[in-house]
Amino acid sequence: MIALMVNGESRKVDVDPSTPLLWVLRDTLGLMGTKYGCGIAVCGACTVHVDGEPVRACITPISSLAGKAITTIEGLSADNGHPVQRAWITVDVPQCGYCQSGQIMSAAALLAKHPSPTDADIDQAMSGVLCRCGTYSRIRRAIHLAAAPAKSTATKKGDEP
Ligand code: FES
Ligand code: FES
Repeated sequence: MIALMVNGESRKVDVDPSTPLLWVLRDTLGLMGTKYGCGIAVCGACTVHVDGEPVRACITPISSLAGKAITTIEGLSADNGHPVQRAWITVDVPQCGYCQSGQIMSAAALLAKHPSPTDADIDQAMSGVLCRCGTYSRIRRAIHLAAAPAKSTATKKGDEP
């Protein structure tokens, strides 16, 4: 048995220690929001957070995750209320949707570190998450929108004497 912390809950899984996190999430825990794209760390569709860092679940063995906090798209918010999810809905980012949980998790990790990212920050953080529908311009717009509260707070603070 391997003990995990997934979306704030303790879970125990009986799998081979080399099993990639992606398959534990999808097949063992029934969390289907994290997608399989390439299986070789190239597309980013399987991105989740481990201790707040974006990680490719398809190449992360479950044995490396004891004691770490795993967050999937299901755990990002209870009601799609995370700023990135709200911005995604406002901008209507997805087309087919397949890549989008990886995009959202990558964007959320970016904003946690850089609350007011530049275009260059966004391009650097998001460049490895592929979208065959080409939603990149809407993704960039949504990230700027999600960052807007932080930007306006920073502006207000900057305006203070
Ligand atoms: S499925 Fe993990 S990076 Fe493509
Ligand atoms: S929305 Fe279709 S692959 Fe990204």
